[in-house]
Amino acid sequence: MARKRIAVLISGRGSNMAALIEAASDPAYPAEIALVLSNIPDAGGLSVANSKGIKTETVDHKKFGKDRAGFEKTVQDVLDANKIQFVCLAGFMRLLTSAFVTHWHGRMLNIHPALLPSFKGLDTHERALAEGVKIHGATVHFVVPEMDSGPIVAQAAVPVLSNDTPQSLAGRVIQAEHRIYPLALRWLAEGKLKIVDGRCVNSGASDIDGVLVSPTNLRLS
Ligand code: GRF
Repeated sequence: MARKRIAVLISGRGSNMAALIEAASDPAYPAEIALVLSNIPDAGGLSVANSKGIKTETVDHKKFGKDRAGFEKTVQDVLDANKIQFVCLAGFMRLLTSAFVTHWHGRMLNIHPALLPSFKGLDTHERALAEGVKIHGATVHFVVPEMDSGPIVAQAAVPVLSNDTPQSLAGRVIQAEHRIYPLALRWLAEGKLKIVDGRCVNSGASDIDGVLVSPTNLRLS
């Protein structure tokens, strides 16, 4: 089956983008990263993508001022010109209008650095530490008009350690992100994901049972 054509939308360093590019460098992976698009002209991820031979485009949102629809029309034109089938948001720091999101319904993923629906929005690691949660993580989800909502495709949990700083916790979470985003995109590209009653149903994954305990100095009998 032909590999699906993916655009990764970034605003920054693009480490999740790099993880997707790495996964897609395997010819057996069901998707190819056909385009990396940034709204920030000097986003670090653009040079990373270029160095790996991936096509890049910039649509600078500042040139559109308050004209969000105009910005998105240009983004859409670039996606169409590149025959993009699925979109992965990876640290893309623009809110998207519901018209754009609805157009890509079921075909656009996002990664968020928390176990949704906890800690939507920014500064997730600071807030997780402030709440004293003992397990934190990352979520890949379908994009819906409401921010950091939408059917959950995959989650990865990491322990919060007693001496964690926002930086050390972020370091543990980002490694988890790099593992689940390629997995989620694989399922999407293989047609294994369906949205049923607002939830993601996955015919590609097998269930695992078990308990994750944090802190772990607890004897489970
Ligand atoms: C990640 O933590 C992602 O979850 C969030 O933005 C960050 C982007 O990091 N949406 P990177 O650019 O992929 O390194």
